[in-house]
Amino acid sequence: MRKLKVSGYLLWIVVLLLTACAADSWSPVAGSTELLKDASWTCGSGNTTKDGALVIAAGNEFRAYVNIYGPRLITQGDFGVAVTLSAAQENLAAFSLVGRLGTSAWWDQGRKLDVGLEEGQIIVNYYNGASFMPNVTQTFAVDGLSGKVKLELRRVGAEFVVFANGKEIGRMAAVDAFPDGFAYFGASVRPNNALTLYDLTVTAPPENTAVAVDFSGGAAYTPTEPPLRTLADARHLLVGGAVEPQHILCDKTYAEVLGREFNILVTENAFKFWPIHPEPGRYDFTGSDTVVEYAEAHDMRIRGHTLVWHQSTPDWINNATFTQEQWNEVLQEHITTIVSRYKGRVDYWDVVNEAISESGSGGLRKTVWSTGVGADYVDKAFTWAHAADPEALLFYNDYGAEGLNPKSDQVYALVKDMVARGVPIHGVGLQMHVAPGTAPKPEDLLANIQRLGALGLQVHITELDVRLPSNVTESMLTLQANLYQELLEVCLSADNCTAFVMWGFTDRYSWIPGSASGYDHALIFDKAYRPKPAYFALRKALEMKQSLGPEDFGASCNCAP
Ligand code: XIL
Repeated sequence: MRKLKVSGYLLWIVVLLLTACAADSWSPVAGSTELLKDASWTCGSGNTTKDGALVIAAGNEFRAYVNIYGPRLITQGDFGVAVTLSAAQENLAAFSLVGRLGTSAWWDQGRKLDVGLEEGQIIVNYYNGASFMPNVTQTFAVDGLSGKVKLELRRVGAEFVVFANGKEIGRMAAVDAFPDGFAYFGASVRPNNALTLYDLTVTAPPENTAVAVDFSGGAAYTPTEPPLRTLADARHLLVGGAVEPQHILCDKTYAEVLGREFNILVTENAFKFWPIHPEPGRYDFTGSDTVVEYAEAHDMRIRGHTLVWHQSTPDWINNATFTQEQWNEVLQEHITTIVSRYKGRVDYWDVVNEAISESGSGGLRKTVWSTGVGADYVDKAFTWAHAADPEALLFYNDYGAEGLNPKSDQVYALVKDMVARGVPIHGVGLQMHVAPGTAPKPEDLLANIQRLGALGLQVHITELDVRLPSNVTESMLTLQANLYQELLEVCLSADNCTAFVMWGFTDRYSWIPGSASGYDHALIFDKAYRPKPAYFALRKALEMKQSLGPEDFGASCNCAP
C-alpha cells in the first residue's frame, strides 16, 4: 500500500517534470527571429529605431498601431509570442496581435489581443471590435517589474499562459481573437507613452509545425496578360483607381499591380484640404508628391481630387470666423498654391466636389464655402484653378447623379449654366458608389453622359465601387462582375466618357467596410491581390471589338444579390 503511494507520488513528479520539459522545449519558429528587422515596422508609420530596438510612440492620443504591411503570424494550434519590451511611462504600453482589422469607426480597433505593461503590472486585454473598451481584461501582479521585461504569451489548448522574465505568472481562458487563422503584429500605447521592442519571436511546441510567420503579407499576386491598361490604351480610354501614398511606399504588391494594370490614378485623400493644408499658411505636399511622382514614373495620368469639398476640412477652416473677403483669400490661395505646384503634371482636377444639396429642392448645399465665400464659390473655384493651370481639365464631381434623376438634373443645370456663362469647366465626374440593385440603369447612364456631352463636356466615372455583403458568395461576385462590365460598356459606347476610375483597386484597402457597415468586396482585386470575376469582366468589355449602342442596354440584370 505504502509502496503504491510512493510510486504514485513519483509518477506525479515525472508528469510534472515532463510538462516542464515540454514547456521548455518550445522554440522559435523559422524566420521569426527576423521579425523586427522587417522594413514594414517603420514604413509610413512614424515608428523609429534606437540602438537596434523599435520604438512605437503615441502622441497626444491613444495609439492603436497595426503593422498592416508586414509579416503575419499564422495562428494554428498552440503557439507563443515572446517579446522583450519596456515602456517610457507607467500607463499602458502593450504589444498587440490583431486577428481582424478595425473599420474606421472610432470605437472599433478590430479584434485584438494586447499583452503589455500597465502601472507596474502585466496586463492582457482582449477587444472584440464591438467597443473601444476591452471585453476581457486580466492583470498579473509581478514583483519588481521594471526596465526591460521579457513577456511571452502562449496559447496552449483552451488557455493562454503568460510568462514574465521566464516564469509562468498566470493563465486565462483563451479568447477567439484570431478567427481568420492569422494575426497582424501591432501595439497599443497610451497618450505620451512609448513602447520599445528589443526582440520579438514566435514560438511553438515541437509537435506543431503549422505555426509560421508569413512574410508575403498575405499577397498572392500572379500577373496575367494582358494588363487592363494595354487594352484601355487601344480603346483610348483611361482606366484606373484611387490610391493612398503610404500603400505605394510600403506595400510592394500594391505598387506593382497599380503601375502594371492602370493608365490613370486618382488621389483618394492626399489632395484633400486637411492633409495638404493642415494649418493656415502651412502646406504638406508629402503625400501628394509621392503619388504624383509614382504616376510620372509609371507613365500614368493623374486626377487631383479634390480642391473644394465640405468634408475633410481642418478645424482652422471648420471653426473659422473670417470675413467674406478673408474667405475668398483663403480659398483662392489654397487653389492657386496647389494647382500651380502641379501645373502640367496633374491632368484633371475635381475642382468642386458634392456641391449639390441632398434635399429634393436641390440647389447648392449649404457649406463653409457657400456661406463663407458666397453663392458664386463654384464659379470662382473653377476660375482660380484655370488661371493657375490653363491646360488642366477641370471637373465638377458628385454622387447619386449618375443616371437620370432629380439630382443629375441639378448637376446638369449647374454645369450647363456654367458653360453658358463661360466658366472654365471641362467635365463632370460621376462617382458611382453602387451595389447590385442600386446602380443606374445603363440606358439612363448613357443618356446622362450624352446630354453632358452635348454641352461639350467630358465625363469621367470617378469613384466606382460595387459593394457586396461581407459574407459574399460566388453568385454575388458574378452579379458584381456583370455590373462592372455593363458600366464599362456604357462608358466605352459614349465618345465623351474618357475615364473609368474605381475607388481603389484591391479589397485590401477599400473604404467600404469602414463606411458601409456589413459591406465589403467592392473592387476588382481581392484582399490578396487575386483578380476577381469583375477584373476579367472589365477585360472582356475592353476586348470587345465594337462598342455597344443604346439599343444594347436595358436587357441586363442589375439585380440585388
Ligand atoms: C473617402 C475616402 O475613401 C476615405 O478614406 C476618407 O476617410 C473619406 O473620404 N466621395 C468622395 C471621396 O468624393 O472623397 C470619398 O473618399 C468617398 C465619397
